[in-house]
Amino acid sequence: MIKRIRIQIMDLINQIKEKARKLQKRIVLAEGTELRTLKATEIIIRENLAQIILLGNPDTINSIALANGINIVGADIKDPESDVRREHYAKLMVFIRKSKGLTYQQAIDSLNNPLVFGPVMIKAGDADGEIAGAINSTGDVLRPALQYIKTSPGISVVSGVFFMIFKNKALGDNGLLVLADCAVMPDPDEKQLAEIAIATAKTAKTIANIEPRIAMLSFSTKGSAQHPLANKVINATRIVQELAPELCIDGELQLDAALVDEIGQLKAPGSKVAGKANILVFPGLESANIGYKLVQRLAGAEAIGPILQGMAAPINDLSRGCSVNDIVNMVAITATQAI
Ligand code: ACO
Repeated sequence: MIKRIRIQIMDLINQIKEKARKLQKRIVLAEGTELRTLKATEIIIRENLAQIILLGNPDTINSIALANGINIVGADIKDPESDVRREHYAKLMVFIRKSKGLTYQQAIDSLNNPLVFGPVMIKAGDADGEIAGAINSTGDVLRPALQYIKTSPGISVVSGVFFMIFKNKALGDNGLLVLADCAVMPDPDEKQLAEIAIATAKTAKTIANIEPRIAMLSFSTKGSAQHPLANKVINATRIVQELAPELCIDGELQLDAALVDEIGQLKAPGSKVAGKANILVFPGLESANIGYKLVQRLAGAEAIGPILQGMAAPINDLSRGCSVNDIVNMVAITATQAI
């Protein structure tokens, strides 16, 4: 069984890598002096997955690579503390955040931080995407990205999805379910929840080529419970139907009605999604974050993510416990999001 899940993951990852290879996007690795990041860089260059930009002091980066026998020839190293574009970037930062009172000097100073330099580099058109988080917290990675890259047109909320791969191939699309928002927005309102659903459909299509069937989850199915929290999900579903009528979506649905055919047909007769969902949109971060970890730990599902969505350019946050392979895979995913 475990072997079968591994094969499914490899199929999906290989499909993503193939796309990334064709795109040849410029991906910033902001933690350029971090050992796993350098090991991943060697593999990414060898597998020709993306053009890598490492941030940090070139002497430090090269000496760490040399001392560990890592070949990073082909990576472009940029030093946030001495880069020739600092003045240009600082002016851009002041322009973006003038309403927040950012001064030129504050901008210059904060550019020393690679987690600021990376997103500004992308905003200036000098890179296509960024990954960090192997040694930094989610908040520290996300904040500058939210401040300078901001959201895609028509989207006001950044969120994060997990691709969950189950041994039970009857679930979702051949054992693949996409869960959102497991990573960012603590308590979305109905409009934000609708945006999360729309963004998740796009991510699922772009990265895994799946045709979305979105279940908007609740503790109620089709009015079985009357509560403001269920109403939030009903209203979010309606907003998606207005904004993106082409999407196959239904809600509010309980988890069993979303996934189990007989229960879906019983509780939501005639629904095109009930019993067949491949995207699960949770009503808030608490249920989503706990939910993905429950199925990962108790059902043995493999989790790929979080993959951030809704940003005008892709930034992805690694877990601090990430492996070299996780970084390689996340670079490929980020490259495919940067279309
Ligand atoms: N989408 C779009 N913009 C956002 C979002 C969002 N979800 N959240 C904040 N912003 C914007 C704000 O509007 C603000 O913009 P402005 O400065 O131009 O006005 C800017 O980002 C900073 O916002 P703050 O509210 O000051 O930022 P904060 O420090 O609260 O951090 C963060 C935002 C980091 C995303 C926060 O919501 C957070 O910590 N979320 C939970 C992350 C987390 O811990 N996830 C679970 C772990 S991950 C895992 O287990 C997989």
